[in-house]
Amino acid sequence: MALRRPMVAGNWKMNGSAQLAQELFKKFATKLQNDSAEVVLCPPSIYLESVRQLLDENKEALNGCLVRMGTQNVSQHDFGAYTGEISGQMLKDSGCRYVIIGHSERRRMYGETSDIVAEKFAAAQKHGLTPILCVGESGPAREARRTFEVIAEELDIVIEKNGTMAFDNAIIAYEPLWAVGTGKSATPEQAQEVHAFIRKRLSEVSPFIGENIRILYGGSVTPSNAADLFAQPDVDGGLIGGVSLNATEFLSLCTIAM
Ligand code: G3P
Repeated sequence: MALRRPMVAGNWKMNGSAQLAQELFKKFATKLQNDSAEVVLCPPSIYLESVRQLLDENKEALNGCLVRMGTQNVSQHDFGAYTGEISGQMLKDSGCRYVIIGHSERRRMYGETSDIVAEKFAAAQKHGLTPILCVGESGPAREARRTFEVIAEELDIVIEKNGTMAFDNAIIAYEPLWAVGTGKSATPEQAQEVHAFIRKRLSEVSPFIGENIRILYGGSVTPSNAADLFAQPDVDGGLIGGVSLNATEFLSLCTIAM
């Protein structure tokens, strides 16, 4: 039986401030237990340095608690004339450990195709970052009973381009589009069904990876629904949007996840 340490990752999206980072660390330093979930903060890039400083300053107070930094996007290119982009190496240099790849907002609003997502996945790993790969179906796709088909397509293109073994160093986040920012979370049963499907698909190629990969649920997670979602056998924590901006509620998710 694999021991997968739960993870709670906060995707601030284009929200938050250096002050929010300070509030979070104040709570972490006094309330986080070192047997709690691994906590990842993914602020907008402009606040990475503030978070990195807080991580350094609070090293002792955190006393072994796993608090890490991630980012919300990475360029698929290494360097060059790509105005506004940030490379994997730059993010690594700034202290990031994780990077969210293929979030539905980027796929939908910024034209990130599955091919680009697969390239970004590779770029992240090339520079020593662990991708948090987001997959998820739209509302109409679910209604048309195409959930598994969509998830399989999104996964398979990354597997084809990078190989299954690339998932040895990756996290997957199941984020149904109809649950993102809507206040309407998937039920624990719906989440479990899709997480089990993802795990099985990876297990078919590598039982080791299937057993060990962490699969997070994202989409309107709150302190009131988290316990039931996180209790599902294939749900290893959450990728949190709105609630990650509230230090008290986010901390309570970190506690619930363990
Ligand atoms: O990446 C997190 C996400 O998209 C879920 O957002 O606000 O529904 O928790 P939210």
